[in-house]
Amino acid sequence: MTLVVAHRGASMAAPENTMEAFRLGVEAGADAIEVDVHLSSDGKLVVMHDEMLDRTTDRIGPIAERTMKEIQAADAGWGFAVPDGSFPFRGKGLTVPTLGDVLKWLPDGVGLVVEVKARAATEPTVKALARSQVRKAGAASLISFDEQVIERSRELDPELPTGYLLVPSQPIEAALTYAVQFGHAAVLPWDGDLGLDPMPILAQAQAYGRLIGCYVVNEPERMQQLAAYGLWGFVTDVPAVAREALGPRGVS
Ligand code: G3P
Ligand code: CA
Repeated sequence: MTLVVAHRGASMAAPENTMEAFRLGVEAGADAIEVDVHLSSDGKLVVMHDEMLDRTTDRIGPIAERTMKEIQAADAGWGFAVPDGSFPFRGKGLTVPTLGDVLKWLPDGVGLVVEVKARAATEPTVKALARSQVRKAGAASLISFDEQVIERSRELDPELPTGYLLVPSQPIEAALTYAVQFGHAAVLPWDGDLGLDPMPILAQAQAYGRLIGCYVVNEPERMQQLAAYGLWGFVTDVPAVAREALGPRGVS
């Protein structure tokens, strides 16, 4: 069963990394929600992709130099545009969530993939997950492009599964060797690097005892192909499309 992970929530349907996008991701039948985290100047875990407020909100500046109160005053629906060029979520009261907000809300049976974007957020994220229901249910993982982040996570909590994200064109076999050495459960390349025939890489991963997931898959035919090859999971901006392509949860 290939896992469908809603990338920043159902981020094609609602502003990324907002509670509305997460709610729609769950409603669409995603197996798990992916969120990005940074740390505010007052030590709160901020759910946002970029290190700056500029692209997605009506405010500017680095998250690391803003308090959570300042960040929560921003309109998190500001940057989201639909194909006709309008901004349907502006002024609708969407705010930037904390990781705590997400953990409190996450329904039972839905997994959580936390991508740590800032090193300073590593320890607070591991601590927050340690107290969470999703962690107790064995459905939480911590991932990062930054080796220091996932290595630190393993030091703090060796039982929390970690995933190593690869930038496009990064060699996968070397990453598998690294993952074995440091105990990371999964290696997560860019989909394009799996190629038209992902079988050799998946077989290699199996030999190394690691899982392979990938980002970001939005085409139904590709979802079906990857699932047929037994890929562990993929993140998608369109979880409803994925569910349609792969069938109901627990069946594909
Ligand atoms: O889950 C992996 C994916 O989210 C990594 O890329 O830039 O969307 O965080 P990015
Ligand atoms: Ca991410």
